[in-house]
Amino acid sequence: LQYLREDQHQTGTKEGCAEGDCGACTVVIGELVGDEGNEELRLRAINACIQFLPALDGKALFTIEDLERNDGSLHPVQQALVQQHGSQCGFCTPGFAMSLWALYENEPVCPERDEVEHALSGNLCRCTGYRPIVEANQEAYALPRQSLTRQPIITALKQLRKLPPLDYQGAGQRSHSPHTLAELAELRETLPDARLVAGGTDVGLWVTKQGRDLGEIIQLGAVSELKTLQLGAERLEIGAGVSLTDAFVALTAFEPQWAELARRFASVPIKNAGTMGGNVANGSPIGDSMPALIALGSRVVLQKGMATREMALEDFYLGYQKTALQAGEFVRSLILEAPKAPLQRIFRSYKVAKRTDQDISAV
Ligand code: FAD
Ligand code: FES
Ligand code: FES
Repeated sequence: LQYLREDQHQTGTKEGCAEGDCGACTVVIGELVGDEGNEELRLRAINACIQFLPALDGKALFTIEDLERNDGSLHPVQQALVQQHGSQCGFCTPGFAMSLWALYENEPVCPERDEVEHALSGNLCRCTGYRPIVEANQEAYALPRQSLTRQPIITALKQLRKLPPLDYQGAGQRSHSPHTLAELAELRETLPDARLVAGGTDVGLWVTKQGRDLGEIIQLGAVSELKTLQLGAERLEIGAGVSLTDAFVALTAFEPQWAELARRFASVPIKNAGTMGGNVANGSPIGDSMPALIALGSRVVLQKGMATREMALEDFYLGYQKTALQAGEFVRSLILEAPKAPLQRIFRSYKVAKRTDQDISAV
């Protein structure tokens, strides 16, 4: 966010809370997904305020400035926000527009109200009220469709893939972005004190809120082997780098009672950026996945060099924010298995908090 506003002077993206809570800084990230030859562009809203610049390696970034058409006219989601009186002071509006734009691009047909509300779960508005904003979404779909031209972006991102791993330095800090598991494993052993950064939704706040200097960091975002998901009827394996959004879809397919937790966990932009490995490795007592994962008997796979070991997730936590991770080791994946006889297990999970969206669990 700082880079956008202070270096690029792209000041349409706003800063409200600087901790991922308000959505004033919402931008959209474009990433290549799919096998070689069949790549598609995936667009997801995230919070710019808690992302580090090197996390953009190999990705496309869209800000509110990108919604403007060549003739200077508004995009349908912006036009609809105007027509439905979805903006008063306007501070939150670019963030809402970007969340609505991601939805518009991902859903060719106007989604149900519940889905729109979920897409806006990370955007706060203090003065307009949400009804006109939610209704602006419907209006946007009624206006002539204006979709992003994706092919040139896909071609550009494919070119970026061919570049060597990014080694970025600035202000006395250094960031490594390994591309393969082997590169990551080697780096992790050589630099056991470097901070691993996956989605940055925990680590980002150490910087924006506590002013911490992270020193040397290893970004996990470009390691595609960490993003693999294997879902079968008997077994689910979730790579540590899988986003919470994708992990929760798989977890809900594997264990339908996970749906409530998936809906109530953080917001859409946080789930798009944050990873399952980050939630588990952070070991925060307010982390939401762990009680449910432990109840389901999950196992965690740890890797050091090319060697792996596996343990019950319950045994991974040794104390308050203390885990069994050794120097040079990292979380590789999580494994869940179905009970031998389905009736042996009855699983329910509820999140109790003061607010529906974006709140810390009370229980
Ligand atoms: P990062 O911030 O990148 O890393 C977190 C920690 O894990 C760091 O110590 C990092 O070094 C370590 N780490 C990351 N990946 C690995 C790995 N593969 N191996 C070893 N160590 C690793 N959490 C909840 O549980 N429930 C919520 O409702 C919720 N709401 C949130 C709302 C907001 C606004 C914000 C900002 C955060 C919220 N969180 C919530 C916390 C956070 O989003 C999650 O913990 C998330 O899963 C962290 O993942 P990450 O990839 O962003 O981790
Ligand atoms: Fe509030 Fe980023 S400034 S979420
Ligand atoms: Fe003022 Fe939303 S219009 S905060």
